Amino acid sequence: MREFKQYQLKAHNTFGIPALCDRFVEFEAEADLEKLYQDGLFRQPWMVVGCGANLLFCDDYKGTILHPVSRQVTLLEEKERTVLVRVDAGMVLDDFIALSVSKGWGGVENLSAIPCGVGAAPVQNVGAYGVEAKDVVERVHLFNTKDGSMVEFLNEDCAFGYRDSYFKSHPDYVVVAVDFRLTKYPFHQLRLDYGNLRAALGDSFDEKSEVALSQIRDAVCRVRDSKLPNPSVIGSAGSFFKNPVVDRSVVEKLLVDYPNMPFYEVGDKRKIPAGWMIDQAGWKGFREGNVGVYEKQALVLVNYGGATGMEVWNLALRVAASVKEKFGVEISPEVIRIHS
Ligand code: EPU
Repeated sequence: MREFKQYQLKAHNTFGIPALCDRFVEFEAEADLEKLYQDGLFRQPWMVVGCGANLLFCDDYKGTILHPVSRQVTLLEEKERTVLVRVDAGMVLDDFIALSVSKGWGGVENLSAIPCGVGAAPVQNVGAYGVEAKDVVERVHLFNTKDGSMVEFLNEDCAFGYRDSYFKSHPDYVVVAVDFRLTKYPFHQLRLDYGNLRAALGDSFDEKSEVALSQIRDAVCRVRDSKLPNPSVIGSAGSFFKNPVVDRSVVEKLLVDYPNMPFYEVGDKRKIPAGWMIDQAGWKGFREGNVGVYEKQALVLVNYGGATGMEVWNLALRVAASVKEKFGVEISPEVIRIHS
């Protein structure tokens, strides 16, 4: 376990915002968390930061940041059609996806290139191109900071929702490892119908082929690359806002004025792409000072270099207010704001 005082977090958030934390602790295994528990760390302010891909630091963090560094991958079980794989929280999700695809394990390929640690995947129920963490997570191993014990949550205990889980509203748990249930060739259940994924795969794509997984991974990476900024070049947290889920009647009324408005069915409700509304409100490509609205995807706020968290936050407030004024719909951040 390594530990640093007054630690700079700029390289630990994909927005690239400078902020200090009082203490930064890299932990490996549950024994480290037990030791920290015995030392009383969890009685002071603390939080876990993996890749920091969903955080906006508006102030320094007056507390301890825990950062998982263990990256072990263990094949727990192999059946005729599936495998069960345990992955430590510190592994970068995309590294695990690359490994899965190389082994022919299916289920996570659509999540390629999401900047996120394995530990954050179930907390945020990350999703892209028709797949969410909830579709592949079988079990989550967590440290309960209230009593110092290890607990396991099965998929159905995790209360997964759209970018949401039980753990988001119960931040007393630290994810130590995640068990993923993945499929084996030729039993893959490919998800190809989201947006332009099928088009990106091209006419020669063969679902039954043994290389289908790596072709999907490549296509997802290409589509993401064409729409989303690479955090190592332009700071961002991917989508800044969630897509609002509204009553059917709201969509019906809006369609009168905006007959081409895209929307998706979510049970009885309807989801409207916030990126479309922000775009329609004229924000796409907007830039002021160090911050802006990404020119290729209006849902993404960016730090062109040198921005503070408050600059990004003030832009977010203006964007949300203008969407509310134009469409009467509230959009709320997916990103978590850290402030004192
Ligand atoms: N759209 C516009 N203008 C824009 C952006 C989008 O008109 O500037 C329209 C698109 O044409 C499309 C619709 O809005 O009709 C949806 O756009 P897109 O498919 O790009 O997806 P999204 O809803 O904006 C969500 C996720 C992304 C994920 C993509 C693909 C959320 C908040 N975001 O974006 O996740 O990669 O779908 O599955 O659900 C993230 O969470 O950080 C993230 C990048």
